[in-house]
Amino acid sequence: MTSASGPMFLHPDRNLAMELVRATEAAAIRSFPFVGRGDKNGADGAAVDAMRAFLNTVDFSGTIVIGEGEKDNAPMLFNGEVVGTGDGPACDIAVDPIDGTSLTSAGRQNAISVIAASDRGTMLDASSVFYMDKLVAGPEGVGILDIRQSIAENIRALAAAKGKPVGEMVVAVLDRPRHEGIIQEIRDAGAGTRLLLDGDVAGGINAAREEARIDMCIGIGGSPEGIVTACAIKALGGFIQGRLAPKDDAEAQAGVDAGLKMDHVYEASELVNSDNTFFVATGVTDGALVGGVRRKGPIIRTDSIIMRGKSGTIRRVQADYLAERWA
Ligand code: FBP
Repeated sequence: MTSASGPMFLHPDRNLAMELVRATEAAAIRSFPFVGRGDKNGADGAAVDAMRAFLNTVDFSGTIVIGEGEKDNAPMLFNGEVVGTGDGPACDIAVDPIDGTSLTSAGRQNAISVIAASDRGTMLDASSVFYMDKLVAGPEGVGILDIRQSIAENIRALAAAKGKPVGEMVVAVLDRPRHEGIIQEIRDAGAGTRLLLDGDVAGGINAAREEARIDMCIGIGGSPEGIVTACAIKALGGFIQGRLAPKDDAEAQAGVDAGLKMDHVYEASELVNSDNTFFVATGVTDGALVGGVRRKGPIIRTDSIIMRGKSGTIRRVQADYLAERWA
């Protein structure tokens, strides 16, 4: 960098995430009235409608590769749906209008609204297999972690790379009966668990952030969430691997028919084959990654995080909206 007209300042290209964030903000605002109201499909539907409306104002041609909601017949942005004005770059889009619909409906923490984007044709379409086994960590994990190793080996290797005792390591995992074995393995290894009620996108990202209190996020969660997380991990320089976890033989066969590989460890570059990734998340309810939507008199306040893989920039965005415009 030599001067204000030097190379660093020439033609900064567009950061799509700075426009996409309006769609997650809108989704979070529209789902806010449903927080703690026991209506998760109502919350999801409001978020989906708002996200779609705002996505369609952005100058790009976005194809939804990873929609979300098939699991429980929730409302969804459909796989293959094209969003945006049609002008501008062709992108793959992964959406999770609310990651944590049950958290939202119960009024619990850590529900977020998420969009990830990358160059067209670069996201793995894992939609035919709902679950994925994942291993996510920060940059220290690159080159030393491997989902094929035992949990104890991974914990020890990461602890050594981070220069901290195993006893101070914290591993996040979704609190599910299917994870009873790995929860025990984590504790037997001498590390602590952070059991997530829901929301392994925020869990994975928190594992990769320097300031977070989680060192690693492991276990089986949604495949869509794995792709979304990979887009953020690119910006954080972190580590992610995923292995599809079909529920039964029929789902495994459907995956193979769709060109997916079972028993294959998908590296970050296979989950998203591009460094030109964008990730945005807005808090629906308060959480470790972002704060939830707040109503302050005439103002509705949102809190978002924006990441870009190509540049590695991470921004925090607080937006104040006039509540009367959202009545
Ligand atoms: P939804 O809010 O879309 O239901 O997802 C919440 C979530 O916890 C994800 O973060 C996670 O990947 C997935 O569900 C795990 O699925 P399951 O609840 O079936 O274990």
